[in-house]
Amino acid sequence: MSCVIVVGAQWGDEGKGKIVDIYTEHADIVVRAAGGANAGHTLVVGDEKTILRLLPSGILRENTRCVLAQGMVVDPAVLVAEMSQLARQGCQRVDARVALSARAHLVLGYHQQIDALRETAAQARAIGTTKKGIGPALEDKVRRTGILAGDLRDLARLRDRIEGSLFHWRPQLAALGGTIPSVDEVLAELEPLRARLVPLLCDTSRLVNEALASGKKVLLEGAQGTLLDIDHGTYPFVTSSSPVAAGAAVGAGLGPTRISCVLGISKAYATRVGSGPFPTELPDPEGARLREAGAEFGSVTGRPRRTGWFDLPGFKYAARVNGLDGFALTKLDVLTGLGTLKVCVAYDTPEGRTEELPLDAIADDPSKIRPVYEELPGWSEPLRDVRKLSDLPRAAHSYVRFIEERSRVPLYLLSVGARRIETIVLQDPFARAAERRSS
Ligand code: IMP
Repeated sequence: MSCVIVVGAQWGDEGKGKIVDIYTEHADIVVRAAGGANAGHTLVVGDEKTILRLLPSGILRENTRCVLAQGMVVDPAVLVAEMSQLARQGCQRVDARVALSARAHLVLGYHQQIDALRETAAQARAIGTTKKGIGPALEDKVRRTGILAGDLRDLARLRDRIEGSLFHWRPQLAALGGTIPSVDEVLAELEPLRARLVPLLCDTSRLVNEALASGKKVLLEGAQGTLLDIDHGTYPFVTSSSPVAAGAAVGAGLGPTRISCVLGISKAYATRVGSGPFPTELPDPEGARLREAGAEFGSVTGRPRRTGWFDLPGFKYAARVNGLDGFALTKLDVLTGLGTLKVCVAYDTPEGRTEELPLDAIADDPSKIRPVYEELPGWSEPLRDVRKLSDLPRAAHSYVRFIEERSRVPLYLLSVGARRIETIVLQDPFARAAERRSS
Protein backbone atom coordinates (compact mmCIF):
# COMPACT_ATOMS: atom_id res chain seq x y z
CA MET A 1 0.00 0.00 0.00
CA SER A 2 1.52 3.33 -1.07
CA CYS A 3 -0.44 6.50 -1.00
CA VAL A 4 1.36 9.80 -1.53
CA ILE A 5 -0.30 13.20 -1.15
CA VAL A 6 1.12 16.20 -2.96
CA VAL A 7 0.00 19.52 -1.44
CA GLY A 8 0.65 23.19 -2.13
CA ALA A 9 2.67 24.74 0.69
CA GLN A 10 1.92 28.37 -0.23
CA TRP A 11 -1.03 30.18 -1.88
CA GLY A 12 -1.38 27.79 -4.81
CA ASP A 13 0.42 27.89 -8.17
CA GLU A 14 3.47 26.17 -6.67
CA GLY A 15 3.98 23.96 -9.70
CA LYS A 16 2.09 20.93 -8.40
CA GLY A 17 1.09 19.86 -11.92
CA LYS A 18 4.68 19.31 -13.01
CA ILE A 19 5.66 17.48 -9.81
CA VAL A 20 2.62 15.22 -9.91
CA ASP A 21 3.33 14.52 -13.57
CA ILE A 22 6.86 13.40 -12.66
CA TYR A 23 5.77 11.12 -9.84
CA THR A 24 2.89 9.65 -11.84
CA GLU A 25 5.49 7.62 -13.67
CA HIS A 26 5.39 5.41 -10.56
CA ALA A 27 1.66 5.73 -9.80
CA ASP A 28 -1.21 3.52 -10.92
CA ILE A 29 -3.90 5.99 -9.94
CA VAL A 30 -3.88 9.78 -9.62
CA VAL A 31 -6.69 11.39 -7.66
CA ARG A 32 -7.92 14.94 -7.39
CA ALA A 33 -9.80 15.25 -4.14
CA ALA A 34 -10.63 18.93 -3.58
CA GLY A 35 -11.38 22.16 -5.39
CA GLY A 36 -12.51 22.33 -8.99
CA ALA A 37 -11.87 24.27 -12.16
CA ASN A 38 -10.36 27.11 -10.13
CA ALA A 39 -7.13 25.10 -10.46
CA GLY A 40 -4.90 25.27 -13.52
CA HIS A 41 -2.16 22.64 -13.41
CA THR A 42 0.45 23.27 -16.07
CA LEU A 43 2.46 20.43 -17.59
CA VAL A 44 5.12 20.76 -20.25
CA VAL A 45 6.01 17.55 -22.03
CA GLY A 46 8.57 18.01 -24.78
CA ASP A 47 7.59 21.36 -26.19
CA GLU A 48 3.88 20.90 -25.62
CA LYS A 49 2.16 22.78 -22.79
CA THR A 50 -1.09 21.47 -21.30
CA ILE A 51 -3.15 23.20 -18.63
CA LEU A 52 -5.46 20.91 -16.70
CA ARG A 53 -8.27 22.37 -14.66
CA LEU A 54 -10.18 19.31 -13.52
CA LEU A 55 -8.48 16.16 -14.69
CA PRO A 56 -5.60 14.85 -12.59
CA SER A 57 -2.17 15.35 -14.15
CA GLY A 58 -1.82 11.57 -14.57
CA ILE A 59 -4.04 11.80 -17.65
CA LEU A 60 -1.00 12.38 -19.86
CA ARG A 61 0.45 8.96 -18.98
CA GLU A 62 -1.44 6.42 -20.99
CA ASN A 63 -1.80 3.72 -18.34
CA THR A 64 -2.72 5.87 -15.38
CA ARG A 65 -6.23 5.77 -13.95
CA CYS A 66 -7.51 9.25 -13.09
CA VAL A 67 -10.04 9.87 -10.37
CA LEU A 68 -12.15 12.92 -9.62
CA ALA A 69 -13.15 12.15 -6.05
CA GLN A 70 -16.13 13.24 -3.97
CA GLY A 71 -14.34 16.19 -2.39
CA MET A 72 -14.33 17.93 -5.76
CA VAL A 73 -16.78 20.40 -7.21
CA VAL A 74 -16.98 19.62 -10.89
CA ASP A 75 -18.09 21.88 -13.70
CA PRO A 76 -19.51 19.27 -16.10
CA ALA A 77 -19.03 21.44 -19.19
CA VAL A 78 -15.37 22.08 -18.35
CA LEU A 79 -14.78 18.38 -17.72
CA VAL A 80 -16.27 17.30 -21.04
CA ALA A 81 -14.37 20.03 -22.90
CA GLU A 82 -11.12 19.05 -21.22
CA MET A 83 -11.56 15.35 -22.05
CA SER A 84 -12.42 16.15 -25.67
CA GLN A 85 -9.45 18.48 -26.03
CA LEU A 86 -7.02 15.86 -24.69
CA ALA A 87 -8.46 13.18 -26.95
CA ARG A 88 -7.98 15.53 -29.93
CA GLN A 89 -4.36 16.06 -28.87
CA GLY A 90 -3.81 12.30 -29.07
CA CYS A 91 -4.14 11.45 -25.39
CA GLN A 92 -5.00 7.74 -25.22
CA ARG A 93 -8.21 6.17 -23.82
CA VAL A 94 -9.24 9.28 -21.93
CA ASP A 95 -12.83 8.29 -21.13
CA ALA A 96 -11.84 4.74 -20.19
CA ARG A 97 -9.33 6.02 -17.65
CA VAL A 98 -11.40 8.69 -15.92
CA ALA A 99 -13.56 7.86 -12.89
CA LEU A 100 -15.91 10.50 -11.51
CA SER A 101 -17.31 10.13 -8.02
CA ALA A 102 -21.09 9.95 -8.04
CA ARG A 103 -20.86 12.01 -4.84
CA ALA A 104 -18.83 14.88 -6.26
CA HIS A 105 -20.84 18.10 -6.46
CA LEU A 106 -21.64 19.91 -9.69
CA VAL A 107 -20.84 23.54 -10.42
CA LEU A 108 -23.46 24.98 -12.75
CA GLY A 109 -23.72 28.18 -14.75
CA TYR A 110 -25.68 30.03 -12.09
CA HIS A 111 -23.01 29.24 -9.45
CA GLN A 112 -20.50 31.02 -11.66
CA GLN A 113 -22.85 33.89 -12.27
CA ILE A 114 -23.35 34.40 -8.52
CA ASP A 115 -19.61 34.16 -7.85
CA ALA A 116 -18.89 36.89 -10.43
CA LEU A 117 -21.80 39.15 -9.39
CA ARG A 118 -20.89 38.92 -5.72
CA GLU A 119 -17.25 39.74 -6.39
CA THR A 120 -18.27 42.86 -8.29
CA ALA A 121 -20.74 43.91 -5.62
CA ALA A 122 -18.22 43.34 -2.79
CA GLN A 123 -15.90 46.01 -4.24
CA ALA A 124 -13.05 46.57 -1.75
CA ARG A 125 -14.06 43.44 0.18
CA ALA A 126 -13.81 41.20 -2.86
CA ILE A 127 -11.81 38.01 -2.30
CA GLY A 128 -10.50 38.03 -5.84
CA THR A 129 -11.98 34.60 -6.59
CA THR A 130 -11.45 32.86 -9.90
CA LYS A 131 -15.20 33.37 -10.57
CA LYS A 132 -15.54 29.68 -11.41
CA GLY A 133 -18.48 29.19 -9.04
CA ILE A 134 -16.49 27.23 -6.46
CA GLY A 135 -17.75 29.10 -3.40
CA PRO A 136 -21.46 29.01 -4.34
CA ALA A 137 -21.31 25.29 -5.26
CA LEU A 138 -19.69 24.49 -1.92
CA GLU A 139 -22.25 26.67 -0.15
CA ASP A 140 -24.93 24.50 -1.77
CA LYS A 141 -23.05 21.44 -0.52
CA VAL A 142 -22.93 22.48 3.14
CA ARG A 143 -26.50 23.81 3.01
CA ARG A 144 -27.41 20.34 1.71
CA THR A 145 -28.95 21.72 -1.44
CA GLY A 146 -26.13 20.63 -3.76
CA ILE A 147 -26.41 18.71 -7.00
CA LEU A 148 -24.42 15.49 -7.09
CA ALA A 149 -22.72 14.10 -10.17
CA GLY A 150 -24.70 10.91 -9.49
CA ASP A 151 -27.94 12.87 -10.01
CA LEU A 152 -27.06 12.97 -13.72
CA ARG A 153 -28.25 9.36 -13.87
CA ASP A 154 -31.84 10.22 -13.04
CA LEU A 155 -33.61 13.13 -14.72
CA ALA A 156 -36.42 13.39 -12.17
CA ARG A 157 -33.98 13.56 -9.28
CA LEU A 158 -31.78 15.98 -11.15
CA ARG A 159 -34.73 18.29 -11.73
CA ASP A 160 -35.69 18.10 -8.07
CA ARG A 161 -32.14 18.90 -6.87
CA ILE A 162 -31.78 21.85 -9.25
CA GLU A 163 -35.09 23.19 -8.02
CA GLY A 164 -33.90 22.82 -4.39
CA SER A 165 -30.69 24.68 -5.16
CA LEU A 166 -32.29 27.46 -7.21
CA PHE A 167 -34.84 28.04 -4.45
CA HIS A 168 -31.97 29.49 -2.38
CA TRP A 169 -30.23 31.37 -5.15
CA ARG A 170 -33.15 33.11 -6.86
CA PRO A 171 -33.42 35.97 -4.30
CA GLN A 172 -29.68 36.59 -4.45
CA LEU A 173 -29.60 36.52 -8.23
CA ALA A 174 -32.48 38.96 -8.33
CA ALA A 175 -30.86 41.28 -5.76
CA LEU A 176 -27.61 41.31 -7.71
CA GLY A 177 -29.31 41.95 -11.05
CA GLY A 178 -28.43 38.52 -12.41
CA THR A 179 -30.31 36.28 -14.83
CA ILE A 180 -32.43 33.68 -13.09
CA PRO A 181 -32.44 30.49 -15.15
CA SER A 182 -35.44 28.20 -15.17
CA VAL A 183 -34.94 24.57 -14.13
CA ASP A 184 -35.59 23.60 -17.76
CA GLU A 185 -32.80 25.86 -18.94
CA VAL A 186 -30.35 24.32 -16.47
CA LEU A 187 -31.44 20.83 -17.51
CA ALA A 188 -30.95 21.78 -21.15
CA GLU A 189 -27.34 22.81 -20.33
CA LEU A 190 -26.71 19.42 -18.77
CA GLU A 191 -28.49 17.24 -21.29
CA PRO A 192 -25.71 17.04 -23.92
CA LEU A 193 -23.14 16.29 -21.20
CA ARG A 194 -24.94 13.41 -19.50
CA ALA A 195 -24.16 10.78 -22.11
CA ARG A 196 -20.44 11.44 -21.71
CA LEU A 197 -20.37 11.73 -17.92
CA VAL A 198 -22.74 9.02 -16.67
CA PRO A 199 -20.46 6.15 -17.78
CA LEU A 200 -17.63 7.67 -15.71
CA LEU A 201 -19.61 7.64 -12.46
CA CYS A 202 -18.63 5.28 -9.67
CA ASP A 203 -17.79 4.97 -5.99
CA THR A 204 -14.28 6.37 -6.24
CA SER A 205 -13.52 5.88 -2.52
CA ARG A 206 -14.06 2.17 -3.04
CA LEU A 207 -12.00 2.18 -6.22
CA VAL A 208 -9.06 3.89 -4.51
CA ASN A 209 -9.19 1.82 -1.31
CA GLU A 210 -9.41 -1.44 -3.24
CA ALA A 211 -6.51 -0.39 -5.44
CA LEU A 212 -4.39 0.33 -2.36
CA ALA A 213 -5.36 -2.98 -0.79
CA SER A 214 -4.21 -4.79 -3.93
CA GLY A 215 -0.78 -3.15 -3.76
CA LYS A 216 -1.30 -0.35 -6.27
CA LYS A 217 0.34 3.04 -5.92
CA VAL A 218 -1.93 6.04 -5.50
CA LEU A 219 -1.03 9.70 -5.80
CA LEU A 220 -3.37 12.39 -4.48
CA GLU A 221 -2.89 15.63 -6.39
CA GLY A 222 -3.67 18.61 -4.19
CA ALA A 223 -5.11 21.81 -5.63
CA GLN A 224 -4.71 25.42 -4.43
CA GLY A 225 -2.45 25.70 -1.36
CA THR A 226 -2.25 25.55 2.42
CA LEU A 227 -2.63 29.29 2.95
CA LEU A 228 -5.85 29.24 0.89
CA ASP A 229 -7.35 26.53 3.11
CA ILE A 230 -10.76 27.38 4.57
CA ASP A 231 -9.61 26.38 8.08
CA HIS A 232 -5.87 26.96 7.96
CA GLY A 233 -5.43 29.80 5.48
CA THR A 234 -5.56 33.59 5.59
CA TYR A 235 -9.33 33.65 6.18
CA PRO A 236 -11.50 35.16 4.72
CA PHE A 237 -9.15 35.45 1.73
CA VAL A 238 -9.21 31.73 1.06
CA THR A 239 -10.93 29.23 -1.17
CA SER A 240 -14.01 27.39 0.11
CA SER A 241 -12.45 23.94 0.35
CA SER A 242 -9.64 22.24 2.20
CA PRO A 243 -6.43 22.00 0.16
CA VAL A 244 -4.34 20.59 3.05
CA ALA A 245 -3.29 16.92 3.22
CA ALA A 246 -6.02 15.90 5.63
CA GLY A 247 -8.58 17.54 3.33
CA ALA A 248 -7.30 15.41 0.45
CA ALA A 249 -7.84 12.26 2.54
CA VAL A 250 -11.38 13.34 3.41
CA GLY A 251 -12.12 14.28 -0.19
CA ALA A 252 -10.85 10.98 -1.53
CA GLY A 253 -12.62 8.84 1.07
CA LEU A 254 -9.35 7.51 2.49
CA GLY A 255 -8.70 6.99 6.18
CA PRO A 256 -5.63 8.76 7.65
CA THR A 257 -3.98 5.35 8.22
CA ARG A 258 -3.85 4.85 4.45
CA ILE A 259 -1.60 7.85 3.78
CA SER A 260 2.05 6.93 3.57
CA CYS A 261 3.82 10.13 2.54
CA VAL A 262 2.91 13.83 2.35
CA LEU A 263 4.96 15.97 0.04
CA GLY A 264 4.70 19.77 0.06
CA ILE A 265 5.41 21.86 -3.01
CA SER A 266 6.81 25.36 -2.74
CA LYS A 267 8.24 27.85 -5.15
CA ALA A 268 11.72 29.21 -4.39
CA TYR A 269 9.94 32.55 -3.86
CA ALA A 270 6.30 33.39 -3.12
CA THR A 271 3.28 34.34 -5.21
CA ARG A 272 -0.35 35.03 -4.55
CA VAL A 273 -3.23 35.69 -6.91
CA GLY A 274 -6.33 37.46 -5.66
CA SER A 275 -6.76 39.67 -2.60
CA GLY A 276 -5.58 39.11 0.95
CA PRO A 277 -2.50 39.54 3.08
CA PHE A 278 0.91 38.71 1.61
CA PRO A 279 3.53 39.92 4.10
CA THR A 280 6.62 39.28 1.95
CA GLU A 281 5.13 40.88 -1.17
CA LEU A 282 7.55 42.90 -3.28
CA PRO A 283 6.46 46.28 -4.54
CA ASP A 284 7.03 47.14 -8.19
CA PRO A 285 9.40 47.38 -9.97
CA GLU A 286 11.10 44.50 -8.08
CA GLY A 287 7.84 42.58 -7.91
CA ALA A 288 7.24 43.11 -11.61
CA ARG A 289 10.74 41.87 -12.41
CA LEU A 290 10.10 38.63 -10.56
CA ARG A 291 6.67 38.35 -12.21
CA GLU A 292 8.18 38.65 -15.66
CA ALA A 293 11.08 36.30 -14.89
CA GLY A 294 8.73 33.64 -13.55
CA ALA A 295 5.89 34.26 -16.06
CA GLU A 296 3.64 34.72 -13.06
CA PHE A 297 0.25 35.12 -14.67
CA GLY A 298 -2.72 32.99 -13.58
CA SER A 299 -3.13 29.89 -15.74
CA VAL A 300 -6.94 29.99 -15.33
CA THR A 301 -7.72 33.70 -15.18
CA GLY A 302 -4.59 35.24 -16.76
CA ARG A 303 -4.39 37.66 -13.81
CA PRO A 304 -0.92 38.93 -12.89
CA ARG A 305 0.24 37.18 -9.74
CA ARG A 306 1.61 39.17 -6.84
CA THR A 307 5.21 38.16 -6.12
CA GLY A 308 7.45 38.23 -3.06
CA TRP A 309 10.28 36.65 -1.10
CA PHE A 310 10.27 33.14 0.31
CA ASP A 311 8.44 33.02 3.64
CA LEU A 312 10.14 30.50 5.93
CA PRO A 313 7.65 30.84 8.83
CA GLY A 314 4.88 30.32 6.26
CA PHE A 315 6.60 27.22 4.91
CA LYS A 316 7.16 25.81 8.41
CA TYR A 317 3.49 26.44 9.11
CA ALA A 318 2.57 24.46 5.98
CA ALA A 319 4.94 21.70 7.15
CA ARG A 320 3.10 21.59 10.47
CA VAL A 321 -0.52 21.59 9.31
CA ASN A 322 0.16 19.09 6.54
CA GLY A 323 2.65 16.94 8.46
CA LEU A 324 5.09 17.18 5.54
CA ASP A 325 7.51 14.28 5.10
CA GLY A 326 9.41 16.18 2.43
CA PHE A 327 9.15 18.95 -0.10
CA ALA A 328 9.78 19.84 -3.70
CA LEU A 329 11.20 23.27 -4.45
CA THR A 330 10.18 24.68 -7.83
CA LYS A 331 11.22 27.55 -10.11
CA LEU A 332 14.69 27.96 -8.61
CA ASP A 333 15.86 28.95 -12.12
CA VAL A 334 13.67 32.08 -11.95
CA LEU A 335 15.93 33.57 -9.27
CA THR A 336 18.94 33.59 -11.61
CA GLY A 337 20.27 37.10 -12.12
CA LEU A 338 18.18 38.78 -9.42
CA GLY A 339 21.20 39.83 -7.31
CA THR A 340 21.01 39.49 -3.54
CA LEU A 341 18.06 37.37 -2.40
CA LYS A 342 16.03 37.73 0.74
CA VAL A 343 14.30 35.07 2.81
CA CYS A 344 11.82 35.99 5.53
CA VAL A 345 12.98 34.10 8.63
CA ALA A 346 10.80 35.66 11.35
CA TYR A 347 8.14 38.28 12.01
CA ASP A 348 8.10 41.30 14.27
CA THR A 349 4.64 41.55 15.79
CA PRO A 350 3.12 43.77 18.51
CA GLU A 351 3.87 40.85 20.89
CA GLY A 352 7.53 40.61 19.87
CA ARG A 353 9.60 38.65 17.37
CA THR A 354 8.46 35.18 16.32
CA GLU A 355 9.73 32.52 13.95
CA GLU A 356 6.19 31.19 13.59
CA LEU A 357 3.68 32.51 11.04
CA PRO A 358 1.57 35.01 13.05
CA LEU A 359 -1.64 34.07 11.28
CA ASP A 360 -3.99 35.77 13.76
CA ALA A 361 -2.01 39.01 13.66
CA ILE A 362 -1.90 38.85 9.86
CA ALA A 363 -5.67 38.39 9.70
CA ASP A 364 -6.23 41.09 12.31
CA ASP A 365 -4.10 43.85 10.78
CA PRO A 366 -1.27 42.91 8.41
CA SER A 367 0.21 46.41 8.71
CA LYS A 368 1.16 45.65 12.34
CA ILE A 369 3.57 42.87 11.46
CA ARG A 370 6.96 43.15 9.74
CA PRO A 371 8.88 40.37 8.05
CA VAL A 372 12.47 39.96 9.23
CA TYR A 373 14.75 39.06 6.34
CA GLU A 374 18.11 37.36 5.97
CA GLU A 375 20.02 38.15 2.81
CA LEU A 376 21.63 35.45 0.75
CA PRO A 377 23.93 35.86 -2.23
CA GLY A 378 22.35 35.42 -5.63
CA TRP A 379 23.83 33.82 -8.74
CA SER A 380 23.92 34.66 -12.43
CA GLU A 381 24.31 31.23 -14.08
CA PRO A 382 21.27 29.66 -15.81
CA LEU A 383 20.14 26.49 -14.04
CA ARG A 384 17.95 24.74 -16.58
CA ASP A 385 20.61 22.26 -17.64
CA VAL A 386 21.69 21.35 -14.13
CA ARG A 387 20.80 17.74 -13.32
CA LYS A 388 22.68 17.21 -10.05
CA LEU A 389 22.47 19.20 -6.84
CA SER A 390 26.25 19.30 -6.66
CA ASP A 391 26.38 20.98 -10.09
CA LEU A 392 24.37 23.97 -8.92
CA PRO A 393 26.23 27.27 -8.57
CA ARG A 394 27.45 27.50 -4.97
CA ALA A 395 25.01 30.33 -4.08
CA ALA A 396 22.02 28.43 -5.52
CA HIS A 397 23.03 25.32 -3.59
CA SER A 398 23.33 27.35 -0.37
CA TYR A 399 19.91 28.92 -0.97
CA VAL A 400 18.27 25.50 -1.26
CA ARG A 401 20.14 24.12 1.75
CA PHE A 402 19.18 27.20 3.77
CA ILE A 403 15.48 26.46 3.26
CA GLU A 404 15.92 22.76 3.91
CA GLU A 405 18.00 23.21 7.08
CA ARG A 406 15.97 26.02 8.60
CA SER A 407 12.63 24.32 7.92
CA ARG A 408 13.91 20.84 8.82
CA VAL A 409 11.89 19.40 5.98
CA PRO A 410 13.89 17.09 3.68
CA LEU A 411 14.18 18.09 0.04
CA TYR A 412 12.77 15.41 -2.30
CA LEU A 413 12.93 17.22 -5.62
CA LEU A 414 14.27 20.41 -7.15
CA SER A 415 12.73 21.90 -10.28
CA VAL A 416 14.94 24.13 -12.44
CA GLY A 417 12.60 24.66 -15.40
CA ALA A 418 9.07 24.00 -16.65
CA ARG A 419 9.91 20.87 -18.64
CA ARG A 420 9.86 17.32 -17.26
CA ILE A 421 13.56 16.88 -17.77
CA GLU A 422 14.49 20.12 -16.01
CA THR A 423 14.28 18.38 -12.67
CA ILE A 424 16.61 16.99 -10.02
CA VAL A 425 14.92 14.06 -8.29
CA LEU A 426 16.50 13.30 -4.91
CA GLN A 427 14.04 11.02 -3.17
CA ASP A 428 11.08 8.93 -4.23
CA PRO A 429 8.01 9.51 -2.03
CA PHE A 430 6.75 6.03 -2.89
CA ALA A 431 9.98 4.60 -1.43
CA ARG A 432 9.27 6.62 1.73
CA ALA A 433 5.87 4.97 1.74
CA ALA A 434 7.49 1.54 1.62
CA GLU A 435 9.88 2.49 4.48
CA ARG A 436 7.02 3.67 6.66
CA ARG A 437 5.20 0.39 6.07
CA SER A 438 8.15 -1.72 7.15
CA SER A 439 9.03 0.38 10.23
P1 IMP B 1 -12.05 30.63 -5.49
O1 IMP B 1 -11.39 29.32 -5.14
O2 IMP B 1 -12.26 30.82 -6.95
O3 IMP B 1 -13.27 30.88 -4.66
O4 IMP B 1 -11.02 31.81 -5.07
C1 IMP B 1 -10.67 32.06 -3.70
C2 IMP B 1 -9.21 32.48 -3.61
O5 IMP B 1 -8.37 31.39 -3.94
C3 IMP B 1 -8.79 33.60 -4.59
O6 IMP B 1 -7.80 34.38 -3.98
C4 IMP B 1 -8.21 32.83 -5.76
O7 IMP B 1 -7.30 33.63 -6.49
C5 IMP B 1 -7.51 31.72 -5.02
N1 IMP B 1 -7.35 30.50 -5.82
C6 IMP B 1 -8.28 29.57 -6.11
N2 IMP B 1 -7.76 28.59 -6.84
C7 IMP B 1 -6.46 28.88 -7.01
C8 IMP B 1 -5.40 28.20 -7.65
O8 IMP B 1 -5.52 27.11 -8.22
N3 IMP B 1 -4.19 28.83 -7.60
C9 IMP B 1 -4.01 30.00 -6.95
N4 IMP B 1 -4.97 30.66 -6.32
C10 IMP B 1 -6.20 30.10 -6.35
